[in-house]
Amino acid sequence: MKKILLFILPILFIVTAVFAAFGIIQARFEEERLMDDLKKKARAISESMELSVSHIFLDNDLKAANRLVESFQKRERLQGCVIYDKDGRILAITERISDWKDKEKPYLNDILVNKTPRGALEKFRDYSVYSYILPIIEDNGNVIGMTEVIYDTSYVFSILTQLWKRISASLVILLVFIIIITFLIQRQIFILPVKRLTEWFHHFQRGEIDSMHSIKDKGELGKLASEVEQIALNLRIARRTISDEASTRLQKEDTWTEARLKNLVRAKLGENALFVVSNREPYMHVVDDTIGITKCIRPASGVVTAIHPILCACGGMWIAHGAGNADRKFVNSKDKLGVPPEDNRYILKRIWLNKDEEDGYYYGFANEGLWPLCHNTHTRPVFRETDWEIYKKVNQKFADSVLEELPAKNPFVFIQDYHFTLLGRMIKEKRPDATIALFWHIPWPTPESFLICPYREEILDGMLGCDLIGFHVQNHCNNFLDTANRLLESRVDTEKFSVVRLDKETFVRAFPISVNGHITSDVKESNLPKQIENIKKEFDLEDKIIGIGVDRIDYTKGIIERVLAIDRFFEKYPQYRKKVVFMQLAAPSRVHIKRYHDLMSEIDELVEKKNWKHMDGNWKPIIYLKKYFSPDEITPFYKMADFCIVSSLHDGMNLVAKEYVAAKKDLSGLLILSQFTGAARELTSAIQFNPYAIEELADAIKFSLAMPLEEKRKRMKSMRKIITENNVYRWAGNIITELTSLKRA
Ligand code: G6P
Repeated sequence: MKKILLFILPILFIVTAVFAAFGIIQARFEEERLMDDLKKKARAISESMELSVSHIFLDNDLKAANRLVESFQKRERLQGCVIYDKDGRILAITERISDWKDKEKPYLNDILVNKTPRGALEKFRDYSVYSYILPIIEDNGNVIGMTEVIYDTSYVFSILTQLWKRISASLVILLVFIIIITFLIQRQIFILPVKRLTEWFHHFQRGEIDSMHSIKDKGELGKLASEVEQIALNLRIARRTISDEASTRLQKEDTWTEARLKNLVRAKLGENALFVVSNREPYMHVVDDTIGITKCIRPASGVVTAIHPILCACGGMWIAHGAGNADRKFVNSKDKLGVPPEDNRYILKRIWLNKDEEDGYYYGFANEGLWPLCHNTHTRPVFRETDWEIYKKVNQKFADSVLEELPAKNPFVFIQDYHFTLLGRMIKEKRPDATIALFWHIPWPTPESFLICPYREEILDGMLGCDLIGFHVQNHCNNFLDTANRLLESRVDTEKFSVVRLDKETFVRAFPISVNGHITSDVKESNLPKQIENIKKEFDLEDKIIGIGVDRIDYTKGIIERVLAIDRFFEKYPQYRKKVVFMQLAAPSRVHIKRYHDLMSEIDELVEKKNWKHMDGNWKPIIYLKKYFSPDEITPFYKMADFCIVSSLHDGMNLVAKEYVAAKKDLSGLLILSQFTGAARELTSAIQFNPYAIEELADAIKFSLAMPLEEKRKRMKSMRKIITENNVYRWAGNIITELTSLKRA
């Protein structure tokens, strides 16, 4: 619109200026013509009166003079007439203009002396009149008197005003006409072709290019479109070739790497991009209040750790809640940005939630309801009807946003976690052709536990809108099938491991998630010795045996139990005092929920109490670092730690356990792992324990410290083998293979 105005305004300005100039000339011309006409009339009347006035003077007939001047009383434009004697005194004057006699007339004398007529515009009352004075001259050349006729000139101005009105009306009509014509031309020449081009791009983006949408424009825009069409064609051919090459290469490879996953995605998904949906975004922009600088951080979330490398490998789009307080500053007009920020590999689309939505959907329903419902930690779930309503609304909001992005044919959508139980059904209703997988990163409870959820049927129905539901371990799959079987009208197929509801089949599979096998790049690896040295110096750890714990502060993580076990360990094995230090890295999480808030204070107090109890000189048993650490900041802690404790009371998988093993390239260190984590199923060489049994964990620490080095290396080697083989690329590869095989079935 602005551009059209820029184009149209100068035209309008020029036309107006030309019209104004033309109007002025025409008005001048008209004015001159009318005045000329008026002057002629005044002169003619005066001359026609000349003879009668001569007789009046000769006969000295005052009555005749009055009769003569009064005969002008009723003329419309001729206002009146005056007869002067030879000295310029008024002899007779038309009644209508009787006050004319009071007007100063210094020019009368000149007329009497020069004996020449005079015509001029004069001011009378509040208007202008034309006065024509004719001296009456005897045959001997003497002036015997004068006649003056006075014309009203206002009609000249009203005629001119009419003329201006006509000119202005024509100008307005012309301008409107020009505007309409310009818009029509613009539309025809620019807007419609650009619109067609945009539509064409839109179809191309959605993979709908066929003859129906081809561009037939001739001219420059048509040429541009045909160039773009060529590029699109080349791109499609290139994609197909890459996809074929990828299939061939895939058959030759055996270990799972980023490159292999990339090949698999290209071979299986072809031109169809992958859409990932999660609540937590992989990158958050936050303003650090202490220094007032905006930072881009990677949130402390297992989901993020797992999904990020996959999207880096395959590209695609990740749709998530924009929760960072500076997030809005870093997106384009479609709320998207390329990430990682320094090397864009995929698109992050941020969804905005207001405070009520975040409270009801995230803090309320997801984290006060579903989270404790699914984790067997004896924390009572809270279900509020208002939270549920908002949870549904937010699921719909995400569904609408995903639907906006999906290409025309066969899209793949990969939903993460308990925040989106209804999303699969919502997307499927609008796009039955979409293949949808939901991955449930937390445990699934037994049917008896799930029964207490007031919205159990809607939740199960929503989840069964997906084609595939993944859990970390088989036990969670079994629980889910039992739950669907007992709480919902559906048929469970125990052969195929699927649930059929209303003719729709959903497959349920275990895919144990993992890390990428090597958590540092070579460049970062070379910085590690220095970083470790600095940490040791800062915390006085030079000659110490170091234990590590890395967690979000969450009641499921068993942090309290861990502190109690460390306390018990030093009580029971005092020979380790001043020799062993346990470092707990703890990222505050979900702090607006009372249970989490209370837990933070409880841990603070307990650590303080136990440190006070055991401290000796500069040594204290626990170094508690309560803040967010980025993945790169955590790595040196993993590297230098002689043991790592993962004491979750219940955990879907727990990637910290796997990250620790992945960091131990030199085979040092030992993992002490809760038997209630998903990871415990795979990492059988870890020292496993029951986190509720404090004594058992204290002994497990002692056992690991006393273990011969060779045994430790053997255990670490076997765990590293498992992680290298079953890394996150295999996890994603298995899910994608399963999804695409469903498509074919
Ligand atoms: C852990 C769980 C995930 C969950 C995530 C949410 O990582 O394993 O299943 O999605 O927490 O954390 P958040 O900080 O986003 O609430």
